[in-house]
Amino acid sequence: MERHHPPLAITILGTGAMGRYWAYRLRSAHPLVVGTVPPPYEVFEGRTKTLLIPPYSPWQAAPPSPPDVVVLAIKWREMGQALDWLQRHAPSSIILSLMNGMGQEEALCPLTDAVLLPGTTTAAATRQDDKAPAIRIQSHGLTVLPALAHHPGVQQLMHLSQLHHWGWSWVAPQDALAQRWLKLLQNSVINPLTTLADCPNGEVLHHPIWRLAGPLLAEGEEVARRRAVLLPPDLLASVAQLAQDTQHNLSSMVQDVRAGQETEIEAINGYLIRIAELEHIPVPTHQAVRHLVRQLERHAKP
Ligand SMILES: NC(=O)c1ccc[n+]([C@@H]2O[C@H](COP(=O)([O-])OP(=O)(O)OC[C@H]3O[C@@H](n4cnc5c(N)ncnc54)[C@H](OP(=O)(O)O)[C@@H]3O)[C@@H](O)[C@H]2O)c1
Repeated sequence: MERHHPPLAITILGTGAMGRYWAYRLRSAHPLVVGTVPPPYEVFEGRTKTLLIPPYSPWQAAPPSPPDVVVLAIKWREMGQALDWLQRHAPSSIILSLMNGMGQEEALCPLTDAVLLPGTTTAAATRQDDKAPAIRIQSHGLTVLPALAHHPGVQQLMHLSQLHHWGWSWVAPQDALAQRWLKLLQNSVINPLTTLADCPNGEVLHHPIWRLAGPLLAEGEEVARRRAVLLPPDLLASVAQLAQDTQHNLSSMVQDVRAGQETEIEAINGYLIRIAELEHIPVPTHQAVRHLVRQLERHAKP
């Protein structure tokens, strides 16, 4: 006989581009959205426009009921606020991180009863807040998450995501980790180099600063190897292809610097540097680009 579970209560933390994107993508599960920008949100996808009005709660308020699942859709600069919210309202929930960068395990370690599912996504959306809070979806991409199939709540979430075609691929935890490292290395090249050149992804391939791509990848691969992470061969060619495929995109780091916001450099190149220090591996190119991006952050006020 099939067992019936109560529906999972899902909360999305963050009302930026990805918070709104996940509110739209998971709308069949009626998620609550927590953040600073209240709905309605306009969602543009191709020629269609959808008005999305999910249930909403500001950061300061308690949610109507404790969530079973929380999707982290914030930037790293908001991690302290998110941790505080999670400690108050969802200390033993399932937490999905679909943020860029690494270090979620360390940042969320006070939540000893929570189940953390750090994944990656190639979904892409940009905020368009000129008239009303809005996003344009560039791509639904693919989302990869670690399958902790022994956990009943995760099992239920896996089932729900398949039933509703959310585009989530559940893989063995070591494969999800390898995906995170791959994305980390891609981001550790494209994000800071486009930021230092202040250009879209495609243009950086023709900028002299692209000469740093090889050394950045070689250093990053050495750190990953020391952590027993298997990465695909020819990373330089595939990262160049990724920059070409997304040639018109402005990386989130360029956007942050132009908006005078703190970037996610500490969770990307900074994370690699911290692991390299623990493993006694020299990563001078990552240290140099981190230093330069931090300088830009300090000087680029809108
Ligand atoms: N955008 C993408 O295509 C994409 C793709 C893959 C991964 N990611 C990753 O997903 C995470 C979230 O990124 P994101 O693109 O959602 O960042 P974002 O749009 O910059 O939003 C980040 C935070 O900015 C605040 N915010 C909302 N509207 C704002 C406005 N009009 N002006 C200034 N700030 C505003 C929100 O704060 P509150 O939380 O207080 O509401 C939001 O959580 C990051 O780790 C990013 O690297 C993004």
